Order: sequence, then structure tokens, then C-alpha cells
Amino acid sequence: MNKNEAMRILSTIRYPGYSKTLTDFKIVKSIEIKDNIIEVLLNLGAADSNKRQIIFDEIKAKFEEKGAKAKISTVQEKGSTIEQKHYVQSAKKRIAILSAKGGVGKSTFSVALTIALKKRGHSVGIFDADMHGPDVPRMLGVSERAGTNEEKNKIIPNEKDGIFSMSLGYVVDPETPVIWKGAMVTKAIVELLQFTDWPEMDFFIIDLPPGTGDAALTIKQNMDVDGAVIVTTPNRLAIADAMRTVGFFEQVGVKITGFVENMGYFVCNKCGGKSYPFGKTDPKYIEGLLRVPSLGVIPFDPKVEEAADDGNLMSVIDTEFFNIMDSIAEKIEKI
Ligand SMILES: Nc1ncnc2c1ncn2[C@@H]1O[C@H](COP(=O)(O)OP(=O)(O)OP(=O)(O)O)[C@@H](O)[C@H]1O
Ligand SMILES: [Mg+2]
Repeated sequence: MNKNEAMRILSTIRYPGYSKTLTDFKIVKSIEIKDNIIEVLLNLGAADSNKRQIIFDEIKAKFEEKGAKAKISTVQEKGSTIEQKHYVQSAKKRIAILSAKGGVGKSTFSVALTIALKKRGHSVGIFDADMHGPDVPRMLGVSERAGTNEEKNKIIPNEKDGIFSMSLGYVVDPETPVIWKGAMVTKAIVELLQFTDWPEMDFFIIDLPPGTGDAALTIKQNMDVDGAVIVTTPNRLAIADAMRTVGFFEQVGVKITGFVENMGYFVCNKCGGKSYPFGKTDPKYIEGLLRVPSLGVIPFDPKVEEAADDGNLMSVIDTEFFNIMDSIAEKIEKI
């Protein structure tokens, strides 16, 4: 085996939890070949021991298949391509909710998905990563300030109906307007993730602010994101923006699980007929454009809007809206 061949093999090995490979992340620093032994030097940055082991095992197995032995060593370089942190490991799966545009229903969807997963028997938590307009507390109907555990130097997440949550809204005075700049947003998110005493959870839902700004990158760099759902409305402009968002997140190594069309249709509460305020689109057509699967089309329901505003989404659990949320939660379970 020569160096090129060895590099080609390494380029097929994915970094655990990402769609990108060891070579995409420029982790392979050098390769030396002596007889049948391939010496690989890796810069694994902040990768934890679990991830290191997975990478080592995979490299060894791949080279063994070709009749060669791997000898792996590592260096830690400062400012490496991947300074990945791994907060909220107490959750089995971390799912980010994204959108290109504001006001398409991310927060409503995030809270409703958390409720739907809980109803399906999972332990859940939700993190409000929107520092400019933290909406999760209002939608959950939680207004208490977060407690602290002085001994552990940790913030205690709020809990209501078995749903754990953390938001900037729990730690700063909601009456005080704060002008957040990029670096402050990053710092606030990292501190909330790092210092919250999260319990064991099956699913951890992250409600992101719209777009591909600091908050999105910070989340990606500070936890292993297992899945991501794009929320869009079915109008053309929103879909065009969603296409750019998919591209951005895939580029930074976040695998998009699928998209949902929120407010896809409206059901008349008198005649039961459906109308399509944004025009009727075919999810298959959008799948073709975004190249990610449709997870569902969610109706606009004025009762949902009212309940979200009152912090009482549980009161509309018997609606078509929540039936569809349940089928989406079922797909999320498979991540
Ligand atoms: N399916 C729905 N049926 C009825 N009302 C909805 C639905 N989805 C969202 N809404 C309402 O639309 C408004 C905007 O939703 P939401 O705050 O969830 O959007 P967002 O994408 O999180 O916004 P932002 O970008 O500001 O964070 C809210 O008043 C919410 O209650
Ligand atoms: Mg929001």
C-alpha cells in the first residue's frame, strides 16, 4: 500500500456523528509507511475518548481489510479545524430546529415536538438558543427564574409537565433590553449549555434563531448535533431560503434530517374544508429542491396560536396539528 492509497482509505472514514470524513476535517496530519505498518498521525483536537476509540477502531479495521497494520498516534494542535465541544452528553439525541426565515414557527414547532416526544414516552428537554427573542418560556408557560446549585456551580433547568427547559429568559430580567452582539451571543449560549445541570434525557431539542448566524455555528461547535429539522412555510421565497440553509448546515457538518412545512394549510372550523394560504405545494417537489425528506405538513390552527401564546399547548393535544406532530415525532425517534 502506498501513501495515496492509505489517504484514500482514511478519506472514507467519517468523523463520529458527522457526515464529513477525517480528511474533510483535516485531521490526518501525516502518513508514514514502513513495510506493512502504516503510521498515521492524527490531530483529534478536543475529541473525547469515546470518539477517539471509534476512530482508532475504524482505521485499524479498514487497514486490516487490506492486509496492513495501523499504528496511530495523535497530536493536539491549537486552533485546529475542529475545536469541537461535547456539551449535553446526558441526552441520547440532540436535535436542532432551524429555519432560514424568522416567524415561520420554529419555536412553536420545537415546543410541540418536545411535547409530542414526551407523549410518546420519552424523557425530553428543550434549549432556547434565541438570545434576542426567547419565546420558549412563554410557549411552555414557564416564568420562574432558573435556580442554581451553588455547590456544583450549576444552573438548574426549569421543569413543567416533565419537560426540562433552559432559556436566557430564565436568567436575565425580561424587562431589560439587551443588545446582543455576535461574541456575546456565543458566550451566552456556551455558558447556558455548559453550566446547566441537565438530567438524563432521550431527546434534547434546540430552538435556534433564524438563519445561519452565530447561534447556529455555536451550537454546532459545542455539542454533537444528531439531527436537524428545517421549518419552512410552503411559499417559494421561503423554500429558496431554505435551500441555502440546507447547504450551509451541511457544509459545517450538520446532517439535515428533513424539513416540515408549517402553516401548510388552514382547516375551516365551520365547513372543515382545507385552504392553502401560501399556495398548494407538493412535498415531493420541495424534497427535490432541498434534497432532504419531508417529515410532514403542519396545518395552521388558530387554537394552536392561542394555546402557544397562553403557554398551554397541552390543551390542544387532541387536534389534527398534534396528530401530525405525533407522526413527525415518530420519525424523529428513528434518528
Ligand atoms: N401551525 C401553526 N398554527 C397556528 N399558529 C402558528 C403555527 N405555527 C406558528 N404559529 C404562530 O406564528 C407565530 C410565529 O411562530 P414562532 O414564534 O413559533 O416562529 P419562529 O420561527 O420561532 O419565529 P422567530 O424567528 O421570531 O423565532 C406565533 O404567534 C405562533 O403561535
Ligand atoms: Mg422563535
